[in-house]
Amino acid sequence: MEILGLESLTYGVVDMDTCSRFNEDFGLQLVETSAACTTFRTEENSTIILRKENDPTLPPAVTSGSQLRQLVWSVPSADVLEQIAAELSKDRDVTRDDNGILWTLDPMGYGLGFCVTQMQAVVDEPVQLNTLGNPVRVDTRFQFSEKAKILHLGHVVIHAPNLQETYEFYTKRLGFVLTDSFATGQGYFLRSPGSHDHHNIFLFHVEEDLAGIDHASYALSSFDDVAMAGTHLEKKGWQSFTGPGRHQIGSNYFWYFDSPCGGKVEYYADMDYLTDDWVPREWEFAPEVVAAWDTGPGFAQ
Ligand SMILES: [Fe+2]
Repeated sequence: MEILGLESLTYGVVDMDTCSRFNEDFGLQLVETSAACTTFRTEENSTIILRKENDPTLPPAVTSGSQLRQLVWSVPSADVLEQIAAELSKDRDVTRDDNGILWTLDPMGYGLGFCVTQMQAVVDEPVQLNTLGNPVRVDTRFQFSEKAKILHLGHVVIHAPNLQETYEFYTKRLGFVLTDSFATGQGYFLRSPGSHDHHNIFLFHVEEDLAGIDHASYALSSFDDVAMAGTHLEKKGWQSFTGPGRHQIGSNYFWYFDSPCGGKVEYYADMDYLTDDWVPREWEFAPEVVAAWDTGPGFAQ
């Protein structure tokens, strides 16, 4: 069951104008806007959709206030879509909308969609970094971006009160692959079968009252772009949560910001690229395990 990665996220939000301004400042491209719905895109054409929190087309929210409501995963063909429909129809309602998206609910209560992908993979230029004794950029200046581009919707991190049930649903019913586990069964980094990202979803156990999205994460070309994009967002007055820094788990550079749409958003670059040869590891929770370095207040705040 090949699932390529995240195609779309939909948030139900309290303040559409503020959330739209945030997404534009963040660097997402505005596609279209109406009274009911505003859509943004990445370079790869994954979409981030804002609807009002009380929009009747959305499934019930897992918490009050602005929150993630729906996730859509991309598949390569109609055949794969039919395989997923057959599997999930065994124990839950599955519907299709006018856009051909297959819909159900996941065990946490989020709208869970699948569609034949509309994305166009971005093939990024290698970043030319000189190291001592190994120059790869000779008689050539570094190629700075004029503006950091949001290339790829990489992953979501969700607080899951029913972690084990959700973990088994994604792995046993949809074939998601365990990349690493965290804090002895308290968290699972999973990648969709068909993705090489270190993770496309990280599920972390919390008590019921802390359910909700932790963050959505977007790949940029390089650390320079992460730093440029984050600096731009700070100058626009948005609040950094932590970063820039570099994770131990997944190896990626990061910079997190609080999002008015719900939870946080993360810029990242240079994440581990995994194949079937990867052997899952177990990580303990400690600030120095989460980040190799972090110039912000850190994750223990
Ligand atoms: Fe992340």
